[in-house]
Amino acid sequence: MPVTVRSFAKINLGLRIGAARADGFHELLTVYQTIALHDVIRVSVKRGSGIEILCADPRVPRDESNTCFRIVERAMTALRAKGRVVIEIEKRLPVQGGLGGASANAVATLLALERAQKRTLPATERLRIAAEVGSDLSLFLVGGTVLGVGRGEQVYPLTDLPAMPCVVVTPEIGVSTPKAFAEWDRLCSQKLTAPPASDRMNELGRGLSAWLSEPYSSAPSKFSARGGRAENPLLWLVRAGIENDFEQVVFPEYPELRDGKRALLRAGAKYASLSGSGSTLYGLFASRQSAMAAASRLRRQGWAAQATATLTRRQYWSRIFDC
Ligand code: C5P
Repeated sequence: MPVTVRSFAKINLGLRIGAARADGFHELLTVYQTIALHDVIRVSVKRGSGIEILCADPRVPRDESNTCFRIVERAMTALRAKGRVVIEIEKRLPVQGGLGGASANAVATLLALERAQKRTLPATERLRIAAEVGSDLSLFLVGGTVLGVGRGEQVYPLTDLPAMPCVVVTPEIGVSTPKAFAEWDRLCSQKLTAPPASDRMNELGRGLSAWLSEPYSSAPSKFSARGGRAENPLLWLVRAGIENDFEQVVFPEYPELRDGKRALLRAGAKYASLSGSGSTLYGLFASRQSAMAAASRLRRQGWAAQATATLTRRQYWSRIFDC
């Protein structure tokens, strides 16, 4: 019997790009948030050896370039396990970037493989393996609202935002993440007056620290005076300065994506943004009804739009194995 798991997607609630590093990566500061849209992964371990990937979507690679393949190779070694691992990927998420679909698939595969083998790796070992496979796998080992630093692979659970209705728009555009980072570097080198990368990260860092410490602070902050985090955590985060630096390089290259963000805001989103380097866009809404109405309106306008909701850490973990 295969082990079946849900592989939930993420969005980025703000992303600041820092300095380019000697290893070719960039320092990042981002808030990841898991959402309810998901793929389904089935893993079985049979006699023999090797890794087989089954997927009806021709865009999903079946070889070692697939993140699921790479994580299984490492996990089988770490578990000192033998066998032929068969991974079936039921693709429901759009393959377009920004939702972390391939990264989520890899982590879901790891969790399913552990269950199939009736063994679990220590948390530090899971995190090491996830970070080896890619920068945004580790967040799926935490779930909910997650702070990502380093190249995005160092993850810390944040105070969970309550589940919020959202609409995800997936334009038929593939954005290359390495090219978007290179374009960011070019933009920064041109803008001689722009604040240094570290200032941009510090600014968001301060906003997040204020958000986290505010409930314990005796002095009422200007945020609680305006309604407080409990009433509107999202507005609080927006005031903390969540924005996605990738918009500055991706929107000029693909103006259609800027139009998509505007369409989300016109459809009633309280906040809208590119997720990661795109091309996925999302909008956060005040109610489920307004998110559903916005998704219908956007579809009538020709956008591929789906209404969904963010997932708290508890929801994320309770639904992964509940298939
Ligand atoms: O780790 P991941 O496979 O997601 O990274 C893909 C590419 O994106 C890297 O090879 C690198 O060029 C770029 N990247 C970066 N800085 C990061 C994450 C990714 O420059 N923090």
